[in-house]
Amino acid sequence: MPKTLQIGDRLEVAVDRLSFTGKGIGRVDNFVIFIPHTIPGDIVRAEITSRKKRYADARTVEFVRHSEDSIEAKCRHFGICGGCSFQNLPYDLQLNAKEEAVREHIKRIGKIEEPPLAKIVPSEKQFFYRNKMEFSLKPDDEDYLKLGLHHRGEWEKIFDVEECILQSEISNKIVKHVRDFFKEKQIPAYHLSEHHGHLRFLIIRESSATGEIMLILVTNMGDFDYMEEFIEAITSEFPEVASIVHVINSKKANIASGQSEEVVWGREHITENIGGNKFLIRPSSFFQTNSRQTEILYNLAAEMGKFKSDERVLDLYTGCGTIAIHIARNVESVLGIELNPDAIKSAHENAELNDIENCEFIAGDVRKIMDGLINEERNFDTIIADPPRAGIGHKALVRVFKLRPKKIVYISCNPSTLAADLKELEQNGYKLDKTVPVDMFPHTFHIETVSRLTRK
Ligand SMILES: C[S@@+](CC[C@H](N)C(=O)[O-])C[C@H]1O[C@@H](n2cnc3c(N)ncnc32)[C@H](O)[C@@H]1O
Repeated sequence: MPKTLQIGDRLEVAVDRLSFTGKGIGRVDNFVIFIPHTIPGDIVRAEITSRKKRYADARTVEFVRHSEDSIEAKCRHFGICGGCSFQNLPYDLQLNAKEEAVREHIKRIGKIEEPPLAKIVPSEKQFFYRNKMEFSLKPDDEDYLKLGLHHRGEWEKIFDVEECILQSEISNKIVKHVRDFFKEKQIPAYHLSEHHGHLRFLIIRESSATGEIMLILVTNMGDFDYMEEFIEAITSEFPEVASIVHVINSKKANIASGQSEEVVWGREHITENIGGNKFLIRPSSFFQTNSRQTEILYNLAAEMGKFKSDERVLDLYTGCGTIAIHIARNVESVLGIELNPDAIKSAHENAELNDIENCEFIAGDVRKIMDGLINEERNFDTIIADPPRAGIGHKALVRVFKLRPKKIVYISCNPSTLAADLKELEQNGYKLDKTVPVDMFPHTFHIETVSRLTRK
């Protein structure tokens, strides 16, 4: 980058590739510049927003020329919203970029020269696929209440979402209705630095199978006298709402969980159906956000596991037991391990709900529980692992090696930690047979993968 270039400077940049986080990349004098919402072939006038030693971030001031591949984004908020990265890129090119990102990670970090990568599985739904959306409520300089999503690059700022085409149409109507209600009653949003006001988050969860909706309203501590009216305003308009939950969070931490959680109307769960099994979704349950694609993902994991009826399976990071239950009828037994005790409670309920009797679930850290299993000399033919973004990691992998499963089915939502774990697995007697990328999140850079490894 020219030495004189500073934050605020403007320059013309030709974008020639996409970063793994969905930003356009251009080069000026061999210096890398990341520009969100641009795609290869775009030429933009960009303004430098931050600079580091080796690269800079910039924003588009204007398009000098659009890429030949560029299409019009469907969403009116695209470019402002922090949600979607590339609605302006045709879906097949999004898929190519994601497949390439997985390949590059496995090659570079995983040190596997020719990754056995299958073709990416596209999402059946490209829009309206999300079953959960979290909206923030905040005041800004002009208004005591904004209800919506974060501005890209300005995480403190919220804009009023008129429509988000990743969530369902009814969800959009609810957001508008709730905003109108709060405005009519003049209820102030919570002010983070001054620590006053009521409203903090609105979360909408929806079952794609039953259409049931759960609303979770997070407020600051203090008298919130509007709940009865809020319930009436929602339930009179939306019969699909099966559950309303009030969470109180008086802490400064800007998160949507809190010190208390009360079901103020309806049931304490909604019910989803994946692959013929019913699953209860509670307010704080982890549940994959694209239900239809989850079924495809789980079917793929089952297929790649090539399970036999006499197999014992260990399901690490089991969440609410969804994968364990999905494969339970194909195997002798499944033991699921999960850190969150509420999720384990749901896993037991889910097994019972589906008449599954060969699943056992334990709450605890995978490392600690695996230590117990190693001491007891328990044997597992297959380990399934579906860790959070941080991956399995060295300390848990060491325990996996001691358990010596014949097969490992690894579901990952982060190609870079997957690749690091694959490297360690390959160095410790496992061979990567196949990785299949699965798109669960169109228009964002996120990508899921299922990998199968066998003991050499
Ligand atoms: C990506 S989710 C997968 C959940 C489940 N397999 C599914 O498909 O819904 C990862 C899960 O790992 C759990 N988790 C995170 N760290 C853990 C740890 N150290 N030990 C056990 N579980 C953990 C999280 O609570 C979360 O439920």
